[in-house]
Amino acid sequence: IAENLFQQMPKIIGHRGACGHAPENTLASLRKAAELNTRFVEIDVTLTQDSVAVIQHDSDVRRCTNGRGPILLKSLEEVRTLDAGSWFGPEFGGERIPTLKEAIDVIGELGQGLNLEIKPTVGWQIPTAERVAEELLVHWPEEIPLLISSFAVECLIEVRRYLPDVPLGYLTSAIPPDWERRMAEYDCASLHCERHYVTKDHIKAIRDAGFRVLVYTVNDPEEAKKLLDWGADAVITDFPDRMFPLLEG
Ligand code: G3P
Ligand code: MG
Repeated sequence: IAENLFQQMPKIIGHRGACGHAPENTLASLRKAAELNTRFVEIDVTLTQDSVAVIQHDSDVRRCTNGRGPILLKSLEEVRTLDAGSWFGPEFGGERIPTLKEAIDVIGELGQGLNLEIKPTVGWQIPTAERVAEELLVHWPEEIPLLISSFAVECLIEVRRYLPDVPLGYLTSAIPPDWERRMAEYDCASLHCERHYVTKDHIKAIRDAGFRVLVYTVNDPEEAKKLLDWGADAVITDFPDRMFPLLEG
């Protein structure tokens, strides 16, 4: 299943949709990514007070909505009153924080693949992973490529209990010295690392060990080309449109 996924995974993955062009983690951002021909997107998922999985990066809604306060202390009804687009630009004023279910439906319509990053409020790792997995079991259409990642290893472990076959990504900033042991321990197929910390030797070693490498957040096409030449499988970018000309050329 992992092999099948990575064969379908393009080299360019849209970050939070296409968050250089539209408010991150909104349906508009998914549509913008599709408009820019991005076939695979990364989005972040977290929980509301009433345990609904919603698409949001921060634990506090302040940065990306007109509200304030922890999302874990707000019901879905409250979350839905928030404007999640105007902070980015007035033309996005109608955007709301989407539920995971809504995002899945739109991703299905757009024919995209998904890297779903589980982003729990710290302390809520287990319930977040549990709920996300339960929702995926009900709503995820099998034909849509899905890669689940998290910085929180508790989330990876919990998801694996529910979804024995889904490919998992070990998400980190710097690559830990004992990465190989961790990849095995958490049953991960890919390692997702921050661009500053990754070297050509890392990529070679991780690939030689049979794992995939994804690098975030790469917005400079020259850097993307270098990483892909080194053997990275994909780069996660806020500006997918910047990347295509260079890769096609
Ligand atoms: O999944 C890659 C990247 O999104 C991880 O960092 O903070 O943008 O979610 P962050
Ligand atoms: Mg993310």
